[in-house]
Amino acid sequence: MAPEKVTTVSLLQKKQKGEKITALTAYDFSTARLLDEAGVDIALVGDSLGMVVLGYDSTVPVTMEDMLHHTAAVARGVRRAMVVGDMPFMSYQINADEAVANAGRFLQEAGAHAVKLEGGQPMAETISRIVDVGIPVMGHVGMTPQSVHKFGGFRLQGKTESDAERIFNDAKALERAGAFVIVLELVPKDLAKRITEAVSVPTIGIGAGPYCDGQVQVTNDLLGLYGEFHPKHAKKYANLSETILQAFKAYVEEVKAGKFPGPEQGF
Ligand code: KIV
Repeated sequence: MAPEKVTTVSLLQKKQKGEKITALTAYDFSTARLLDEAGVDIALVGDSLGMVVLGYDSTVPVTMEDMLHHTAAVARGVRRAMVVGDMPFMSYQINADEAVANAGRFLQEAGAHAVKLEGGQPMAETISRIVDVGIPVMGHVGMTPQSVHKFGGFRLQGKTESDAERIFNDAKALERAGAFVIVLELVPKDLAKRITEAVSVPTIGIGAGPYCDGQVQVTNDLLGLYGEFHPKHAKKYANLSETILQAFKAYVEEVKAGKFPGPEQGF
């Protein structure tokens, strides 16, 4: 029997019942299948793709075509999880018409169920235009990686009272605009708690402490697969870099020594 799908309604019910929401990034079919089987609620095709899969030093160079290609692969891998496609830099900032058209491509061409975009009050009108055409929008405030050059690095946001107030107002603006969940990235845990209590929609934290309604992590960090740096907020649940390296070395050794392929692999 097909599992009951995660929807905007079931996520809201989780918040209301005090059940935590789980989200992980996915960029390919095989990983999407596994996270779906593990019971993860949201498969976020994050534009972190640019860093952990494509090797850029930020998410800025990622294109619509990159995102659609990978979102379609993830959508083919899930049966239960909600698939959220992350709108890349400059696909929604120019004007609301372009934003609506690009958001529509995620659903029509890639099979996503929702889109995510970064930004608070200045993005509220665009979000409400996208929601108005029937596309659920995941908001994202705090440290918004597409603005890394403005922030001068991937840094904790909301440290001063005025910055915390701005982020709080950003989250409230997204709630009013119709966002169905709000990602809070790299903000102090007390600010995340205050926002979580003040908005009716679920908050999903990354580096935002334990009080959010759910958590999201970059899968490659969680699996120990991204070698460039390891964020403090990401727990390594596995060390796949080491496992893969050992497997590759064993393969190289066996081929060189004439041990692979053996009789079992022959025809
Ligand atoms: O791109 C991404 O993976 C994200 C999450 C970290 C929230 O935006």
